[in-house]
Amino acid sequence: MCGIVGYTGPRQAYPVILKGLKRLEYRGYDSAGVALLHEGKIDVYKKKGKVAGLEEMLVGKNLDANMGIGHTRWATHGEPNDRNAHPHSSSNGKLAMIHNGIIENYAQLKNELIKNGYTFTSDTDTEVLLNFIEYIQTNNDCGLEEALRIALKRVTGAYCILLMEQDNPDTIIAARKGSPLVIGIGKGEHFLASDASPIIEYTKEVVYVNDYELAIVKPDELILKNLGNEKVTPYITKLDMQLAAIEKGGYDHFMLKEIFEQPSTIHDCLRGRLDAQAGTITMSGVQEHIEQLKNANRIMIIACGTSWHAGLVAEYVIEELCRIPVEVEYASEFRYRNPIVNKGDVIIAISQSGETADTLVALDRAKENGAFIFGVVNAVGSSIARISHAGAYTHAGPEIGVASTKAFTGQLAVLMMMALKIANEKKTITAEYYQKLLLELNDVPEKVDAILKNAAEIKTIAEKYKDATDFLFLGRGYNFPIALEGALKLKEISYIHAEGYPAAEMKHGPIALVDENLPVVFVATKDSYHEKIVSNMQEIKARKGKIISIITEGDTISPTLSNDCFSIPPADELIAPLLSVIPLQLLSYYTGIAKGIDVDKPRNLAKSVTVE
Ligand code: AGP
Ligand code: GLU
Repeated sequence: MCGIVGYTGPRQAYPVILKGLKRLEYRGYDSAGVALLHEGKIDVYKKKGKVAGLEEMLVGKNLDANMGIGHTRWATHGEPNDRNAHPHSSSNGKLAMIHNGIIENYAQLKNELIKNGYTFTSDTDTEVLLNFIEYIQTNNDCGLEEALRIALKRVTGAYCILLMEQDNPDTIIAARKGSPLVIGIGKGEHFLASDASPIIEYTKEVVYVNDYELAIVKPDELILKNLGNEKVTPYITKLDMQLAAIEKGGYDHFMLKEIFEQPSTIHDCLRGRLDAQAGTITMSGVQEHIEQLKNANRIMIIACGTSWHAGLVAEYVIEELCRIPVEVEYASEFRYRNPIVNKGDVIIAISQSGETADTLVALDRAKENGAFIFGVVNAVGSSIARISHAGAYTHAGPEIGVASTKAFTGQLAVLMMMALKIANEKKTITAEYYQKLLLELNDVPEKVDAILKNAAEIKTIAEKYKDATDFLFLGRGYNFPIALEGALKLKEISYIHAEGYPAAEMKHGPIALVDENLPVVFVATKDSYHEKIVSNMQEIKARKGKIISIITEGDTISPTLSNDCFSIPPADELIAPLLSVIPLQLLSYYTGIAKGIDVDKPRNLAKSVTVE
């Protein structure tokens, strides 16, 4: 996590950095800080809490500077307080540094430094690395760049760091391994950031820095080098992102904006790929590797959080349509066990940010074992997109709210299209059913729009149950992962404890929790198990649980068993998850709002989890 911004050039650095930090705040908001090169020395200002607090603290200060770095933190080492906030200053006060990542061997380096007389003002791993760099620089009597190179060879873990040096007034030195860094190229100026959002209003030309690269950034010069001190040619990419996409556009929160954007983001995801009339799906990443995909012995899906839930839906859909065995793994588990990856296995990696550390490292391991990796990623040009052999973007646009919403439906749409395309090639699906599903998928944006028109009904339900301390979410079949997703969303955004369960599995344990105080959300749209889930409703009702059900329009039985109901348009059971998740996103949003929670920045979370 952590958001990083840097600027060197003719402009005032502080306003550029401040605006950039606000855009990156989704990555962490435990503290914020800036270091500015002001009248020949480095001034550091930092404060616990959100960027707005830092801004308030700095009103009226002389912040005149043409170079600076800024940081918004998601704490890993040391509690969120002023002391542990970045930027950190080195012992001699000549260097300032910000860091995104974790220095795993910091304890060992810290001991070495303490033996050499160093003391520390924070509990962070970052300050250790910074003083280690300073120590090497002093001892070897070398420049900062060389000291950094030597230091990084001793470091294990992940980092993106930006360094400023008092005696080098226009140069920012950056390095990355495992955490993202984008450099924007302006006219006589450079911008550095964790993603492109702080950069796009100044320039569309960017360089994505790779792992084990160092960048020496001056206003009119950008030099990239590897750790062996050899120059690397920067590869300039043109940004295809609009400023409006990262602004709230009249909504109270990014989360609400992103929920309401889904008719158009799903449409964008299908556009140019799905032609329901012609019966075709055009996905070049799938087409180019169709033999590998359709002949896969097994598909392993690797992801975290909400993306993992999209993987679970895909497991059901791919097995049903393509008859290929699928396993869905938490990336954090996959990477540390000794998984069996055989030739002929295909790995699908799902990630909104494309930067999730657990997923990235899991993919590295799978790649070492010779696996073929297909990435389903939202952030264009992100690390996961780049290390995949092939892939398909979800095209949901930048997702800023910490809770993933539009990226999830984008992931489902891509995975459905993939499954349909493979199944059609493999002939494991009839032509009629293929055609029916294509038409249904095509109708999803319109149906999502219809659901969103009734958002006020969900708001009423949310206000009614906002004081509950626990929630149970139940679903069967394709809707089981949606129950998990509903529970995760509610936990994240309202801090209410929630569990998702397969509806029938509920009687093997969670039923003990049911009493008149427990709201139980049934994701009970019309499918082949509908009668079964109605029986599960009966079981809850018999024990006085409060039933909230998400049902298909026209269902007359479920309402008689439910305390509250929300109807969604009919859809094939494979397509239904794309619709049934929408009311659950709204339920968590409105519950969070009713409880006065900052839904875009819920406590302890960060949007992009770039640490293990
Ligand atoms: C979802 O609302 C989350 N905050 C989180 O679980 C997220 O889905 C997870 O961290 C994976 O992120 P990714 O899709 O960017 O890899
Ligand atoms: N490890 C650093 C800290 O705790 C950076 C954290 C991060 O990137 O999330 O301050």
